[in-house]
Amino acid sequence: MTSFAFNPDAEVKLVRVGRHGIKVSVIDNVLNDPHGLAALGFSQSYAEDRSNLYPGIRAAMPDSFSISFRAWLTPILQRNDMLESHLVIARDVSFFSVVTTASKDLLSLQRIPHYDSTDSNLLAAVIYLCGPRFSGTAFYRHRRTGYEEITEENVSNYQLALNSDLRMYGPPQQDYINGDSPMFEAVFANELKFNSAIVYPARILHAARIEKGFKPPKDQSEWRLTVTALLHLQRS
Ligand SMILES: [Fe+2]
Repeated sequence: MTSFAFNPDAEVKLVRVGRHGIKVSVIDNVLNDPHGLAALGFSQSYAEDRSNLYPGIRAAMPDSFSISFRAWLTPILQRNDMLESHLVIARDVSFFSVVTTASKDLLSLQRIPHYDSTDSNLLAAVIYLCGPRFSGTAFYRHRRTGYEEITEENVSNYQLALNSDLRMYGPPQQDYINGDSPMFEAVFANELKFNSAIVYPARILHAARIEKGFKPPKDQSEWRLTVTALLHLQRS
């Protein structure tokens, strides 16, 4: 069995998040051999990618993973009403990802929730290959605007509102956001389970839930190992 065999009987739940009932899927028992995929993750060579704000290290997933992942996930999301039947996941950009940046080293933008893109044809997914001593992912509402998703239409207003917030509240606390803050209100958080996944629109405000005063892992046994993916939707 390859490490990329996905479980056809995975348990899928559709959750409605926030005031607008944004569709999010939570999936348990994702892979047939999650330990095999985790072992592959531990054997990669990693690099920090300074072209984005991911607070850690990443290694690209092999194409064979992506092909299996898309083929498995597309019908699952169509069946549970997250994906309309005329849409398929046509491409993805996927990485093994490990959070390594200490709380004290976070840039201001890494201390508030983010959106991956304003493109409505992009979903994001995380597969958790670490244990429940870590936490999952949380989604947020920006208090001043009420925005839960950042779109082409509201992005410039969101930037203006964030600037007003920074003037009013000062820089965000020197830590990962993990729950409510003066600027943001958490609207949903999933429980992290080994071999589970969460799939959400890339434009929703979100953040990995990382403990306060986070220190970089000393060795691989302390890694919050995940697969993170951006999924491009297209008409079939
Ligand atoms: Fe993200």
